[in-house]
Amino acid sequence: MQSTPDLSRLLNELETLASFSDAPAPAVTRVVFSAQDLAARAYLHRLFSEAALELRTDAVGNTFARWVGGDSSLAPVATGSHTDAVPHAGRYDGTIGVLGGLEAIRALQRGGFRPRRSIELLVFTSEEPTRFGIGCLGSRLISGALSPEGARRLKDRDGKSLEEILRQAGFDKSLEDVRLADKFYHGFVELHIEQGPLLERKGIPVGIVTAIAAPATLRVRIEGSGGHAGAVLMPERRDAFVAAAEIALAVESAAKATRSADSVATTGVCNVFPGAVNSIPSRAVLEIDVRDIDLARRDAMLSAIRAACGATAAKRQVAVEIELINADAPAQASPLITQTLSASCRALGIEFMPMVSRAYHDSLFLSRIAPTGMIFIPCRNGVSHRPDEYASPADINRGVQVLASALAQLAQ
Ligand code: GLV
Ligand code: MN
Ligand code: MN
Repeated sequence: MQSTPDLSRLLNELETLASFSDAPAPAVTRVVFSAQDLAARAYLHRLFSEAALELRTDAVGNTFARWVGGDSSLAPVATGSHTDAVPHAGRYDGTIGVLGGLEAIRALQRGGFRPRRSIELLVFTSEEPTRFGIGCLGSRLISGALSPEGARRLKDRDGKSLEEILRQAGFDKSLEDVRLADKFYHGFVELHIEQGPLLERKGIPVGIVTAIAAPATLRVRIEGSGGHAGAVLMPERRDAFVAAAEIALAVESAAKATRSADSVATTGVCNVFPGAVNSIPSRAVLEIDVRDIDLARRDAMLSAIRAACGATAAKRQVAVEIELINADAPAQASPLITQTLSASCRALGIEFMPMVSRAYHDSLFLSRIAPTGMIFIPCRNGVSHRPDEYASPADINRGVQVLASALAQLAQ
């Protein structure tokens, strides 16, 4: 099957997409349902329509762009990723899987391929947890990992409910209809940058993902006692921020204590109230991200962090409330997809290696309803979630070629 990507067109589209941003270039900030996110969606819908794809959007804003196959009785094959970006990010995370997926489809179209199964390109809503505190919002709802009632309880940092934000953004369908049936797709393949250094270090251009690590998120609210920074004596203080700092150190220790490189824990958010230099912090809210390939070890880290919260509460006389936002199981890639991807790499003469994904992806949830796998391409110095995130044109090209080949095999 002749399917040569139009690399310069794809690079131009990546550049245009990066311009929908609330941060000046090269940084990209595109929070879900912000004005920039909505403008980026409109741009993508135009590209999908130009490629003669049938468009559908569900109640949470997941977009489905379908190349209709010859036999509509067969389950479609799917690819895709996300286009929201964490604050001060780069241009490749997620977008490679969306625009690369589109280019894979266009390359197959140009090559004269006629799919028997439909090929569907998905753009998932809010893979990043920035706005609602939980990642993979769209794919969680698609897979049933998050219920419509659970989604209705979500609020953003300003206290606005997801439903209200959806309504304002023009999505007025029922959240009950987002869930897709098990085996809805014959297979799902996501193309993504590795977001780590292994491919680059080994000089191997493609990674075939075998498993995705198990992520968990905690929100910890600490209530102490505020007051005048000059007048309240040190023995009388119940400083919520200092308690939070102690907990953050315990988070780091919990990961280091396992002595496994696969254990990671991060305190990525610390909000302090009232936030004045001469006022003792009365309240602090932490958001903590904990991951491991090994579910039992991940859960042991969560227990250690809970114990540390209890110890800090007692020692510092503060109230500590722990909310578990999510604790997901790891995902295994399907042999159908990993074998298809290996065969594609061999046919194209592209060296590859199996690898684990330490980052999470919408594939974590798609794997619950469809045979799923991922293609990783290298990113410079393993950098991601930063403005200097970079994937080379040659690597992007190879990733799209492998994706196109795999979609063609799966859709035949
Ligand atoms: C996705 O962006 C992740 O945090 O793994
Ligand atoms: Mn990301
Ligand atoms: Mn991503």
